[in-house]
This record gives sequence, C-alpha cells and structure tokens, in this order.
Amino acid sequence: MNILVTGGAGYIGSHTCLELLSAGHAVTVLDNYSNSKPESLNRVERLTGKTIRRIEGDIRDGAVLRRALTESGAEAVIHFAGLKAVGESVQLPLQYYDNNVVGTLRLLEAMQACGVKTLVFSSSATVYGDPQRLPLTEDHPLSATNPYGRTKLVIEDMLRDAFAGDASWRFGILRYFNPVGAHASGQIGEDPQGVPNNLLPFVAQVAVGRREFLNVWGNDYDTPDGTGVRDYIHVVDLALGHLRTLEALSKAPAGQGQCMAINLGTGVGYSVLDMVKAFEAASGKPIAYQIQARRPGDIAACYADPTTAKEVLGWQATRDLQTMCADAWNWQRNNPLGYGG
Ligand code: NAD
Ligand code: WQD
Repeated sequence: MNILVTGGAGYIGSHTCLELLSAGHAVTVLDNYSNSKPESLNRVERLTGKTIRRIEGDIRDGAVLRRALTESGAEAVIHFAGLKAVGESVQLPLQYYDNNVVGTLRLLEAMQACGVKTLVFSSSATVYGDPQRLPLTEDHPLSATNPYGRTKLVIEDMLRDAFAGDASWRFGILRYFNPVGAHASGQIGEDPQGVPNNLLPFVAQVAVGRREFLNVWGNDYDTPDGTGVRDYIHVVDLALGHLRTLEALSKAPAGQGQCMAINLGTGVGYSVLDMVKAFEAASGKPIAYQIQARRPGDIAACYADPTTAKEVLGWQATRDLQTMCADAWNWQRNNPLGYGG
C-alpha cells in the first residue's frame, strides 16, 4: 500500500516507518521536525535499504496535506503528528489544541477532499483518566485530567462523529500505553529534547552518565512497592500493531467503513522500582534514585486489557521487559546524545 505517515520522523513514527517499509509498503512522511530530526529517517532508509518520500510541512496546512496525499498516492494515513508533553500542555494549552485538534481536523478535511478514507490515529491510555477499574477495557469511561489528554479525547470524539456522519470512513483509534525501548539495531530510538519527562529515557540518561540520579515521584501509592505502576510496551511491538490495524481496516467490504478503538498494551504492570532494577540488569550500571513527592496529576496504576487487539487485530505484544530495557540501553549507549550526537 501507499501510506502517508504524519509525524513519521518521531519516536513511534520512525519505528513504524521501518516496519512498513520492511513489509513492502511505500511510505511518505509529512513532518515539520518540531520534535524530531530528519536523521531518524536517514537511518530507517539505511536499515531497510528503501527510500522514504519526505515532505517537510505542517499538518495544519491544508495545501501541503493535499499535495502529500496526492503525490504519495496515499491509500491510508497513519497519524502520529502532534505535541505530547503533559506538563507543557498545561502551560501552552492553546498550542496543544491548535497542533493536535486543528491539525487533525485539517487532515480529515484534506483526506475527504482527496478521497482517502482510512486513518490510524495515535490515541493514548490517558483518555481513561484515573482508572475506576483495572485492567482497562476499551469500554471504560473516558475522561482527561490535562489539556494534552483532552486533545486526544476531542480528536477521538471528532473521529466518532465523522464516522456517524459518513460510515465509509475507516478509523483505527489506537490507545497506546507506555511505549519504551528501541529498534534492536540500536540505530533508531527515543530522542527527547531537554530533560526527559518519561521514566525510561530519564533512567537511560542516568545510566549513561548524563544525569546524576532519577527522581522517583512518590512511593506512597496503593501499589505493591508504593511506586507508580504502568503497562510498558516495546515500541517495535507497538509499530507492528499499526500494520495489523491497517490490515484489519482494509478487510472491511467496499463502501463499508468502521471505527474501532483498541488498546495497545501488554496487560502487565511494572512499578518504577521494577523498571530501575530491570534497567540496571540490562545495562550493568547502577541507577541512583531519590524518592520525591508525588508528581501532580499522576495516577497510581494503569494497565491494559489487551484482549480486543488479540481478537480483532490478531496482534499481541511479544517483547518482554528485559528486551525493552536491553534495546533502550543499546540505543542510548550507541547514541548518548541521540540523533544530535
Ligand atoms: P514524537 O514527538 O517523537 O513524534 C511526533 C512527530 O510529529 C515529531 O516528528 C514532530 O516533529 C511531528 N509533528 C508535531 N507537530 C506537527 C505538525 N503540526 N505538523 C507536522 N509534524 C508535526 O512523539 P511520539 O512519541 O512518536 O508520539 C507519536 C504520537 O503518539 C503522538 O500523537 C503522541 O501524542 C502519541 N502517543 C505517544 C505516547 C508516548 O508516550 N510516546 C503515548 C501515547 C500516545
Ligand atoms: C511513568 C511512571 C511516574 C519520570 C505519560 C503521559 C501519557 C502518555 C505516556 C502520551 C509514573 C514515574 C516518571 C520520572 C518517575 N503519553 N516517573 N520519575 O505518566 O504514565 O504517561 O507518558 O500519551 O499521556 O501522561 O509516563 O513515563 O512519565 O511515568 O518516578 O522522572 O514513572 O510517576 O509512575 P506516564 P511516565
């Protein structure tokens, strides 16, 4: 298939482009490089021996979108482009609504104009808010506790409304849990700008000597060791989930669309201290940490019920915690300064 990937130079996008190319798809990336570097795509090309068509531009620009859809001959779009930092979204809410919500609206308009009706969207487990029950099934009530999460909720609602108005759309809404790790080559991985917000990139930077110690945000949660529990998923498993989603969407009979929301997680929760221990084992480096107060807005525990993905997509995560940490370390060790090094 010809696939347009928005935000394809980013962390999850670059890993997905690699799997798409390896599976024989033709890939066009539209990215404004606001949180990534073209070097990630150079490396994907080297690893696969295939070429990516690249368009530098913004998803809020309808003309650029229509050009990208037309030039690529796109049959489907995988939509990663967006801003994702929870804390920043509290400081800059309008930028988040503009980039994420307006950007997705422009994309849907351009797709409609060009007759491209298949979209895979990057949603997040954040749309479940503070879980009322675990594991999280897709029918759990939706809510949000910060502007970033609300942009994901608004976009999900926009997709459901678009489908209600025109049942020929094919929407795969993928609710990611906590993506970590890197491609086994150690050539592509997560390259956060500035101080990492997320746990594993921070731990990796402590291991490589870029940071002195990890702040553990709270050890008084109602969890086995008191620290927060999350469902960490290897980014390559996550990338493969997008391929299975495209396959499932393309199976719908002609003219008959669908709109499905699916969890992409492992179903297993690990605590912050579990992650520290696993990373120490993978890297052979001690990870110094200090217990701090809880981070505002954090929840105690969050993990998926991944049954729908298995039943509907025939997909399940196969890479374990040891592999997630070993691959994250391999990337960090080979690229201590990320793509800028
Ligand atoms: P990322 O920041 O590495 O990638 C996003 C990409 O989109 C970047 O290359 C960035 O330059 C590009 N981009 C941003 N705004 C753009 C715009 N207006 N026009 C064109 N390009 C633009 O993030 P990621 O971790 O790869 O996340 C991808 C998607 O998955 C995001 O939508 C994010 O909200 C979602 N998600 C991420 C996580 C996570 O923990 N990484 C979890 C759940 C959901
Ligand atoms: C994981 C655990 C922290 C950093 C966020 C977004 C979510 C989604 C994924 C995009 C928690 C603890 C962390 C640190 C720590 N993103 N921690 N010290 O908060 O589950 O989810 O990223 O959609 O929307 O909210 O991920 O990696 O920040 O935290 O102790 O320096 O690690 O308290 O328990 P989170 P995270």
